[in-house]
Amino acid sequence: MNPVTNPFAPGAGTPPPELAGRDELRETVRVAIERVRLSLPTKSILMVGLRGVGKTVLLDRMRDGAEATGIQTMRIEAPENRSLPALLAPELRQALLRLSRNDQAKDLAQRALKGLAGFAKALKFKYADIEVGFDFDPEPGLADNGDLEHDLQALLEAVGAAAQKADTALVVFIDELQYVQEVELAALITALHRAAQRRLPVVLVGAGLPQLRGRMGQAKSYAERLFDFPEIGPLAPPAAKIAIAKPAAAQNVIVNPDALERIVQDTHGYPYFLQEWGKHAWDTAAASPITLQDVDRASTTAIAALDESFFRVRFDRLTPSEKKYLRAMADLGPGPHRSGDIAKKLDREVTALGPTRNQLISKGMIWSPSHGDTAFTVPLFDEFMRRIMPGDDWRE
Ligand SMILES: Nc1ncnc2c1ncn2[C@@H]1O[C@H](COP(=O)(O)OP(=O)(O)OP(=O)(O)O)[C@@H](O)[C@H]1O
Ligand SMILES: [Mg+2]
Repeated sequence: MNPVTNPFAPGAGTPPPELAGRDELRETVRVAIERVRLSLPTKSILMVGLRGVGKTVLLDRMRDGAEATGIQTMRIEAPENRSLPALLAPELRQALLRLSRNDQAKDLAQRALKGLAGFAKALKFKYADIEVGFDFDPEPGLADNGDLEHDLQALLEAVGAAAQKADTALVVFIDELQYVQEVELAALITALHRAAQRRLPVVLVGAGLPQLRGRMGQAKSYAERLFDFPEIGPLAPPAAKIAIAKPAAAQNVIVNPDALERIVQDTHGYPYFLQEWGKHAWDTAAASPITLQDVDRASTTAIAALDESFFRVRFDRLTPSEKKYLRAMADLGPGPHRSGDIAKKLDREVTALGPTRNQLISKGMIWSPSHGDTAFTVPLFDEFMRRIMPGDDWRE
């Protein structure tokens, strides 16, 4: 069918034509944010899930929803090598400048902007990547100790006080939170904890790979009690079918029941894969309805497209020894796998492989669901590894 009108949208953070199966979670977050605005006790929410399950698009949708009801939001994506203070500072500034346009909150927002100036100046030595415009001179003693944990706490308190005065809340949306360094995570947790204790309307809605939960606990032991960690997984079959059938129906295109069934089976309900299969099934079909045969043919091109994009970008970032480690894992199946079994595949000692495993964890390729276990963070990555490194050559 006409590729121009193809509704499906595979891509990192690309909004899907139908955000299927996430209503309950969106409602939970909406309620949490409304409670924060009323200064009622609320936990911050950290969504955890594998690559391509739809964490980023959920964050964005939640943010749009919050903004539409007058909430102040910040949106940050933590890359692998920028500091958290450097990411926070410019976004905080924007939020404070908006708050300072509110007559009630103006004085408190300006005070927080002074705090931000002190914060940025004092931390510039430790975090050289901080770049933020100054609107006011610092207020001596406000968030300017040069100690991140202390200063972030003071700063968020000042921001929270301004938001409260404006009858709103500040919601900090952070994506890829697993990449934030442990000391910085610890400071963020402390600051949010402090704000919660003081009933200030500041809350975090974050997303990250499954290892995030453990990292938060390592940064601060009480983090597990302070946050909710809803798991974002593949869509259940009914939702997965809606994700395909509804956007098609919107253009008067029918997807036959057995074709839908087959898409759900091939994708395991993973949102990224659903978009890819939807796109290829649409392009393959000559006309409505999309049939099982169309999906059959689409599977081949969908897998090829995934190999060239979704999987490939991850594979290309790996060193030869990391590739070999993942290939050995893939040989064992989807996982999770015991470290000992992986080592045996490679004829090596578990300890000798420790550094490789750690690098793969910090690159976000694998994670440890429980002690001594290793799992892929990318769904169906085992199949990809067997496709891209076929045969037995990798063993050498
Ligand atoms: N609920 C959903 N229904 C249908 N499609 C979805 C849904 N959620 C996400 N998608 C689609 O899945 C793809 C991946 O979404 P997204 O980039 O948000 O995933 P992610 O979890 O952030 O992945 P990563 O960990 O790689 O950043 C996008 O093409 C998006 O349109
Ligand atoms: Mg994402």
